[in-house]
Amino acid sequence: MTAPMAPAGTRPPDPSSIVRLSTSYWESQTLLTANRLRVFDTLADGGRTADEVAAVLQLDPRGTALFLRACAGLGFLEEVAGRFQNTPVAATFLVSRSPAFMGNVIKYSDQLYGAWGQLEGSLRAGKPALPAETYLGDDPARTRGFVMAMHERALGIARVLVHVLDLQGRRSMLDVGGGPGTYSVLLTERFPGLRSEVLELPGVAAVARELVAAAGASDRVTLRDGDYHSSDFGTGKDVVLMSGMFHRESEATCRGLIERASACLEPGGLLVISDVFTDQGGALPTFAAMFGLNMMLTAPDGGVHADADVMRWMGDCGFRDMRMVPLPPPMPHRVVLGVRP
Ligand SMILES: C[S@@+](CC[C@H](N)C(=O)[O-])C[C@H]1O[C@@H](n2cnc3c(N)ncnc32)[C@H](O)[C@@H]1O
Repeated sequence: MTAPMAPAGTRPPDPSSIVRLSTSYWESQTLLTANRLRVFDTLADGGRTADEVAAVLQLDPRGTALFLRACAGLGFLEEVAGRFQNTPVAATFLVSRSPAFMGNVIKYSDQLYGAWGQLEGSLRAGKPALPAETYLGDDPARTRGFVMAMHERALGIARVLVHVLDLQGRRSMLDVGGGPGTYSVLLTERFPGLRSEVLELPGVAAVARELVAAAGASDRVTLRDGDYHSSDFGTGKDVVLMSGMFHRESEATCRGLIERASACLEPGGLLVISDVFTDQGGALPTFAAMFGLNMMLTAPDGGVHADADVMRWMGDCGFRDMRMVPLPPPMPHRVVLGVRP
């Protein structure tokens, strides 16, 4: 692989990103497999040799040694005197008893690995590789897995979001497509007096009810079975939250949802739209552009929007004082806010 000569004074194109990206799935699959096998739980109480890990997990010893060293190369394990142990990042985020465990989010990515392998087919057919109904109610196990992944992810995002949003004095929130209800639980906890109604598909709402009850929040967060395309949004709300659902919908549907949010809000009511958004042009941040493909693979109208477009749609609907707040890393989310006059 010899790069052609570059004109004097210019740098030749660098193929490093091509080499790295054409093999990055090795690294993804190593993490997904380690999470699936519960390697990090196996090492949670102390270091073990590769042979010991292989025996506990019923794996081939030679391959296990290579696999554990690959995990060490990724920064999740370290090998000390022949024994493998979790690094601090693995102990914090990859061990199931840790309060910051991310294993269900990783498991959801694992389930989508096959769908990404069908990217070409999805592009040709113009259809998702994975029917959305599978994880939105039809398959109870996958639905539960999806809700738990959203819950874990929301715990991270919402703990940041509650400090970005000032809902002091607000009393009645509608959480459209509120998933596990995690945002509603944390926001009503931070702002006493606020009550929230979560509008969700029945299969998801059933799991969410369990999570809300387990959080001791059933008196302030209620779940309503429904379909946000057709269910009544009610009236008299002073906050509408639409988190992580615009990426499932077309511009026309998003505009319709903004109009219905406006109609259910009192004057002065706040519309909060949180999602992964791109900059104008749609290519950056890179994660957001990739996220658009991920949604194309998993929802019929799935994709990604630019936050500036969403603010324009809100403006067209009469909202004012629009602003965008990016959540701090590692959250790739941005929050768009607007007030109903
Ligand atoms: C990515 S999740 C976001 C969940 C939650 N708002 C959050 O941010 O954690 C999108 C949610 O929209 C819900 N959803 C999708 N289509 C829906 C519909 N037609 N009616 C109601 N909810 C829907 C899904 O069940 C899912 O919980």
